[in-house]
Amino acid sequence: MGSGSGLGVLFRITTFGESHGPGLGVVIDGCPPRIPVDAALVQRELDRRRPGQSTLTSPRKETDRVEILSGVNGGVALGTPIAMLIRNEDARSKDYAQIARAYRPSHADFTYDAKYGVRAVAGGGRASARETAGRVAAGAIAQQILAHHGIEIVAWVDEVCGIGATVDGATVTRAAVDTHDVRCPDDAAAAQMTERIERARKDGDSVGGVVRAVARGVPAGWGEPVFDKLDADLAKAMMSIPAVKGVEIGSGFAGTLMTGSQHNDLFVPRPGGGIRTATNHSGGIQGGISNGEPVTVRVAFKPTATIMRAQESVDREGNVATLEPRGRHDPCVLPRAVPIVEAMLALVLVDHFLRQQARG
Ligand SMILES: Cc1cc2nc3c(=O)[nH]c(=O)nc-3n(C[C@H](O)[C@H](O)[C@H](O)COP(=O)(O)O)c2cc1C
Repeated sequence: MGSGSGLGVLFRITTFGESHGPGLGVVIDGCPPRIPVDAALVQRELDRRRPGQSTLTSPRKETDRVEILSGVNGGVALGTPIAMLIRNEDARSKDYAQIARAYRPSHADFTYDAKYGVRAVAGGGRASARETAGRVAAGAIAQQILAHHGIEIVAWVDEVCGIGATVDGATVTRAAVDTHDVRCPDDAAAAQMTERIERARKDGDSVGGVVRAVARGVPAGWGEPVFDKLDADLAKAMMSIPAVKGVEIGSGFAGTLMTGSQHNDLFVPRPGGGIRTATNHSGGIQGGISNGEPVTVRVAFKPTATIMRAQESVDREGNVATLEPRGRHDPCVLPRAVPIVEAMLALVLVDHFLRQQARG
């Protein structure tokens, strides 16, 4: 618990591994028994996260083949810990000789040294987004459980460096999102975003943006007030993704520009019975508990820290040093972040699903 490598209460994951070590992965403790686990669906999500998918991503060549070592038999969860391993294949540690000497601005080199007094320099160690492969593998199993209960999660690139998309969260599909390498389902915005990322790559620079996600079909009643509110847990889960600098639930910061009469989600009868709200500025969560409307989140990613330009920095001893550009990096992390955001949303939701079930 104390070392911060785990998430969740009843569906608990622990990730392990460094970027340039032999491999990395995840252990899930608390997956209910007799749940069908489709390894091909786990692999499909890892394929959406892996580097080398397109010119918009890092060219590092990793197949990210998942090996399920325990907890699954004949395609069914045993109720015992599920361990999943992904071996690293294309580590080029010599690219990181420079970083051993000078700290990368806005990366985790300095702070890992300050904390541990030692670090796996090559590939950024555990601060690398390769760590998120374990989360995506676990999230794929969480999504299989949620899908059995009619819950569908879709995320997409909503903004790149100020270029915004128009997307209907009520109907958008993963197939539409994956139509473009940039993972934005709005054709016109996708073209502009792609051009902007390509330009950043050619300039040896990087750009950031926003991923939006929606979970449809979440019933009312999930979330544990007061400290484990559904929105509080979502914010923590999203903020734990590398390069995330902000999280909005529902209207988020835009809600501050509205009055109460504009912002209130009025209750109306649900066609066919029950209650729903006419609008969803709450993002499907009120008082930390889901209200039956789609759960909506926006996640802000900063521009990639490592850029292909010489930068002034300092070494471990505090001497001024120039950092020369080396290594393979994402000019924009957004397209690969989409399955990671989906995984984190699924992991938080499945944990609260099990917690609500445990109440009886
Ligand atoms: C999908 C994804 C890919 C990333 N790729 C890179 C990369 O190629 N180079 C880099 O410097 N940072 C990359 N990052 C971000 C770093 O891992 C992150 O900025 C670093 O660990 C410092 O943490 P912080 O930005 O959260 O403070 C990536 C993040 C994500 C989510």
